[in-house]
Amino acid sequence: MDRIRTAVVGLNHGLSHVVEVLANPRFRLVAVCTRSPKKLGWLRGEPALDGEPGWYRAHRTALLDRARAYPELAEARLTTDFDALLGMPDVDAVILAPPNHLNAPLAVRVLEAGKHCFASKPFAVNVEQGVRLLRAVRASRRAFILGFEYRYSPVFAQARRMIDAGYLGTVKQLWWNMTRGPLRASHNRLELSGGAYLAECCHWLDLFEYFQPGARFTRVAAFGGLDVPNTHVDFPDNGVTIIEYTTGVRGSLNFTYFTDQPEYNVWGVQGTGGKIRGDTEEAGRFVMFSGPTQDRTEFAVNPARAYHGLHGHLGFDRLHDAFADQIEAGDHAMAVDEAERGLENLLLCLAADRAILERRIVQREEFAMAGVAE
Ligand SMILES: NC(=O)c1ccc[n+]([C@@H]2O[C@H](COP(=O)([O-])OP(=O)(O)OC[C@H]3O[C@@H](n4cnc5c(N)ncnc54)[C@H](OP(=O)(O)O)[C@@H]3O)[C@@H](O)[C@H]2O)c1
Repeated sequence: MDRIRTAVVGLNHGLSHVVEVLANPRFRLVAVCTRSPKKLGWLRGEPALDGEPGWYRAHRTALLDRARAYPELAEARLTTDFDALLGMPDVDAVILAPPNHLNAPLAVRVLEAGKHCFASKPFAVNVEQGVRLLRAVRASRRAFILGFEYRYSPVFAQARRMIDAGYLGTVKQLWWNMTRGPLRASHNRLELSGGAYLAECCHWLDLFEYFQPGARFTRVAAFGGLDVPNTHVDFPDNGVTIIEYTTGVRGSLNFTYFTDQPEYNVWGVQGTGGKIRGDTEEAGRFVMFSGPTQDRTEFAVNPARAYHGLHGHLGFDRLHDAFADQIEAGDHAMAVDEAERGLENLLLCLAADRAILERRIVQREEFAMAGVAE
């Protein structure tokens, strides 16, 4: 199969996609689009200065060094005009990394232009955007994939294999604890990112679905608040979430944004015959107890061999391969499945937000409106 002629939109997180497209022989980088000409200049070697925090600038410098090591970068067309990008006949696929509130509207336009679409998470920031995107995916014949890379990482794929093979008996509970430091400015305003669930916790809710494919939530309880003085966000900086699923499984998710501790994520799966407890240190690892004598099995991804990015984005490289696989398979059902799962993830995020804001349990039926009801 010919290389997939690919464009990337957005140049903050989008820079990681630029590197990945350059590094993956199944893709060819043909264009990059972002609003500011200054950022396009970075790709030509101009100094990458702006008001981002130091840790982020170091991360970006490393990515730019990696991108510039590929001579093909010089051949990519650089543009600030998204319409012009959509009009380029030699662009087969577009990878979107704009601010959260633009993900769904731009994804609709990519699909309507007849291109394959790799959209960043979250699926959308409200129901209207989400329903419009689901319809656009259904109407298009193109590939569609969402940026939920963790489900492609070896550590979660192995946990899923253990579940599927019956090592845990019947899964009954899922849990995830995230403690992390401040968010970047483009994610710490409610109006830009949509808040904690849409900006980030959607990843962990996606894994809850990965561990019980096809599960739908039935109701959600959540408590949270903006508790720490001088905190940098304008939405709850910590929360506790409880989710009940159609499968009978219950999930709990805790998050805080006022800490910066070594254990970024600690997670677990509890079954009737065993359990898994893991974290995302290095490239990810877990310990499993299972069987009649509850034997201990350890699993750790080899950090020297696994791609896990500069910020532990486990599975990022494999997600790009999954996009290429979907394009090559030409199986549109995969795109529709992805979008339906994305909409479900969006509804769960919105339900959790609503539960905190309105201090009550939110029922799935509240989202039973045109285009959303099953
Ligand atoms: N999967 C993951 O692990 C992961 C990690 C990080 C981010 N993300 C997702 O990736 C997306 C981008 O995140 P980010 O942190 O990079 O956001 P960001 O800091 O807001 O950057 C957005 C980028 O998009 C550009 N842009 C804005 N409007 C545009 C338009 N109309 N046309 C073309 N380009 C436009 C911006 O250009 P200017 O700066 O010139 O305005 C900027 O380069 C978000 O959806 C986020 O949720 C995913």
